[in-house]
Amino acid sequence: MKVYLVGGAVRDKLLGIPVKDNDWVVIGSTPDEMINKGFQPVGQDFPVFLHPKTKEEYALARTERKSGHGYAGFTFHTSPDVTLEEDLIRRDLTINAIAENETGQLVDPYNGQQDLANKQLRHVSPAFQEDPLRILRVARFAARFHTLGFSVATETNQLMKAMVAGGEAAWLVPERVWQETARALTESSPSVFFTTLAQCDALSVVLPELESSADNKLIQQALELSAENQLDPEIRLALCFAFDDITTQSVKDFANRLKLPSLFSELINLTVAHTKLAKSTMDSLSGEALIGLYEKTDAFRRPDRFLQLLKVVGIHGQVTKQPLPKTTIDRVASILEHCRKMSAREFVEQGYKGKEIGEQLRIARTQQINVSLSDD
Ligand code: CTP
Repeated sequence: MKVYLVGGAVRDKLLGIPVKDNDWVVIGSTPDEMINKGFQPVGQDFPVFLHPKTKEEYALARTERKSGHGYAGFTFHTSPDVTLEEDLIRRDLTINAIAENETGQLVDPYNGQQDLANKQLRHVSPAFQEDPLRILRVARFAARFHTLGFSVATETNQLMKAMVAGGEAAWLVPERVWQETARALTESSPSVFFTTLAQCDALSVVLPELESSADNKLIQQALELSAENQLDPEIRLALCFAFDDITTQSVKDFANRLKLPSLFSELINLTVAHTKLAKSTMDSLSGEALIGLYEKTDAFRRPDRFLQLLKVVGIHGQVTKQPLPKTTIDRVASILEHCRKMSAREFVEQGYKGKEIGEQLRIARTQQINVSLSDD
């Protein structure tokens, strides 16, 4: 049997960027031989094994045959006769289809190195079409490598367009759409994920709620700024909803459809409901308005989420050319911190009961806010 390093590890090494995972392909072996050598099979039907020591993934060379739609729709054909070239030809992109043998020699039958040099995301062969997830992967790689100058090859965009027209994108389940979107949001050019999907007409099929993220220049700029500032992915997604008039019902539908983690959906909700209020509060900066903002956004109990909202509002101000001074944003954050040091317990100890406790806490917080505002 022969073992080659493949996929992202070889690609990233050639690009001179840190390698995350090593994936290996095994030629000329069988499941029985792998198990006898101490490899652990991953799943039942999937010809992938974990190395007994490194736990890295070793996949038997395979050809794939489509037997239906979606992820349950694959059957794998593995056999010791499948060659390295046959395995590589059914991979997604040429830059992901370069193999490296044990002595460090590259095997590159589909000119991945040339595409790395020309900065092209190009499909290896028509087998690309067998997996609609690849449409999302290409968009994610475009978002990741845009700053290095990469773009999607014209013929690959055409192929993806044809797949979408043929109904393939509609088979992508929301869970996988979200997985890829969540990863794409963390990339250095997240907006390119949306424009790439729009260019092949997939965006309106897989993420219709985010269509304006591909053509609204404000959202595009906001996404780029949030990536430059290395802001959380929750903030990045919330910014996609910060510039249009969106109903809370449509946010709810979107969150339910994709089964968004609550940290994401809550920040979108806050953004949609309170960006304008936060902006006007910070413009006027009165004690009464500020406590109202903290209360409406549940900032006393959820300070981290409120700080994320402040970041959203900050970026919103920047791109709409109504910037909020950083000192104002920092002040609103630090006043919240002061207020949070006060607790209901003080008032319980002073003998207040029931509703009075909350009322006294509010009075004390308002006083604290006013003192802080007059201090600076
Ligand atoms: N692959 C593919 N089609 C897919 C998924 C994976 O052809 N739908 C192939 C590609 O050759 C890819 C390799 O399997 O390089 C490993 O996949 P994965 O680990 O998901 O991606 P990486 O390319 O390693 O990228 P990342 O850096 O995002 O992990």
